[in-house]
Amino acid sequence: MPCQRPDACRNEGNRYQMSADSADDRLDLKAFIEANLPLASAPSIPNVRLHMATPQSGLYRLAMADDSDLVPPYWAYPWAGGAVLARYLFDHPEMISGKRVLDLGTGSGLVAIVAMKCGARHVLAVDIDAKAIAAAQLNAAANDVVIETRLGDIIEDAPPAADMILAGDVFYDETLAERILPFLQRCRSAGLDVLIGDPGRAPLPTDFLLQVADYPVPDFGGGNGSANSAVFRLK
Ligand SMILES: C[S@@+](CC[C@H](N)C(=O)[O-])C[C@H]1O[C@@H](n2cnc3c(N)ncnc32)[C@H](O)[C@@H]1O
Repeated sequence: MPCQRPDACRNEGNRYQMSADSADDRLDLKAFIEANLPLASAPSIPNVRLHMATPQSGLYRLAMADDSDLVPPYWAYPWAGGAVLARYLFDHPEMISGKRVLDLGTGSGLVAIVAMKCGARHVLAVDIDAKAIAAAQLNAAANDVVIETRLGDIIEDAPPAADMILAGDVFYDETLAERILPFLQRCRSAGLDVLIGDPGRAPLPTDFLLQVADYPVPDFGGGNGSANSAVFRLK
């Protein structure tokens, strides 16, 4: 089937390819990410590299290639909430060693990858964005760890079969925060530990949280400055 959007689908050398075996004309996400988002060291996190966007990455072209998707490319950067959580896990691997972990809102997969590197028994990385799932899979492979990924919205569901929920920078939106907090509270009531990383965004439900650590990490959500972000445990 020919591309329906010749403006968006033109081939620019090896920088932009359509899926060879796709049933429709959607972009081959993984080929695009590998070709246009170079692997670079994650700030503040030792020995982890992620496919990260640069001004040349053409993320707008990627969004335009899929009419259903005008979601911001959260997956193309490590966010401060994920970075601070990952940093904390590196410093406290005993927190996660041997545990079954769910990384909620995985984005690039940074937190999931670090959880595996720190000795988690199993990590399920969940996101509602197919591009995030593709990026997390590529990033896991680039860091020689195996994670399970799931595309979908699980926050109305029962608590998962896990020991711990990690949630990096998921309190960035008021409406989402109102849905995520009850899910995390149900998980906590079911006996799961819940750790949240956040740079102090407005919807963060601080009344329900205990701060356990803080680090200055770069915040891509609020520009490129260094935010004093923190790790919280749900009470
Ligand atoms: C600001 S990004 C943080 C990504 C990553 N955790 C980090 O810190 O770098 C928030 C992520 O949450 C995802 N998200 C939003 N609503 C979600 C939901 N209901 N379930 C799972 N993920 C969700 C978004 O698609 C996005 O990838």
